[in-house]
Amino acid sequence: MQIAIDGPASAGKSTIAKLIAKNLNFVYCDTGAMYRTVTLLAKKHNVGYGDTLNILKLMSEHRIHFLNKEDGQHVYLDDEDVSDDIRTEEITNNVSQVSAIKEVRTQLVQMQRDLANDCDIVMDGRDIGTTVLPKAEVKIFLIASVEVRAQRRFKENVERGINTPLKELQDEIAARDYKDSHREISPLKKADDAIEVDTSDMTIEQVVKRVTEIVNEHK
Ligand code: CDP
Ligand code: CDP
Repeated sequence: MQIAIDGPASAGKSTIAKLIAKNLNFVYCDTGAMYRTVTLLAKKHNVGYGDTLNILKLMSEHRIHFLNKEDGQHVYLDDEDVSDDIRTEEITNNVSQVSAIKEVRTQLVQMQRDLANDCDIVMDGRDIGTTVLPKAEVKIFLIASVEVRAQRRFKENVERGINTPLKELQDEIAARDYKDSHREISPLKKADDAIEVDTSDMTIEQVVKRVTEIVNEHK
């Protein structure tokens, strides 16, 4: 079974996808982490975020892979655990440029499909229901107002000791949504057969309950 969870930045996709995967004993795949890792790869080698040729060269020389540990999914660049390094502001603010590169998407989409080929999976991202797994049995499109999403990210940051002003976070989220929705290749878009869940006024538990109901209806 394939469960696709798409939606804009900070809508709660990874939180919900992880919990659903855990409850169902499915594999979880965070596709955003893959685009973030390619962005980190460019940064580490001083390659411009729009330099397609050199980014592709780096991708052919390095390996991105996941390892599931007790505390969740870790992403590796070759032998290095980069799970934290891919979450910095620098990466967040530049990932949309890298993810708009057609050839980068082609390679990562292939990896994502291979991963989904031989297991039950919950995959979250922007184009899972539309492009990566168009035949997924369950497609969820999670949304929340930009104000609520900025608040959530603000709270998350404070817990990690980061004090970016709320307004800045809101602007960053809105800018990233715009770029992700307006790129030429596989833009962020609700699949025709996806079920939209507006989580603005919902707790994590309520969203998990609603998504579980939807999954059960499709079993
Ligand atoms: O968790 P957050 O909403 O901040 O973003 P993410 O899921 O980690 O994704 C980071 C970025 O990767 C997005 O802003 C998109 O530019 C890109 N992305 C994509 O293009 N396609 C996907 N399937 C997943 C992420
Ligand atoms: O993956 P995505 O960027 O869509 O969002 P996330 O990283 O799963 O969630 C962003 C933040 O919102 C996390 O701190 C979640 O705990 C929080 N959240 C929430 O407060 N209420 C929800 N219904 C969903 C997520």
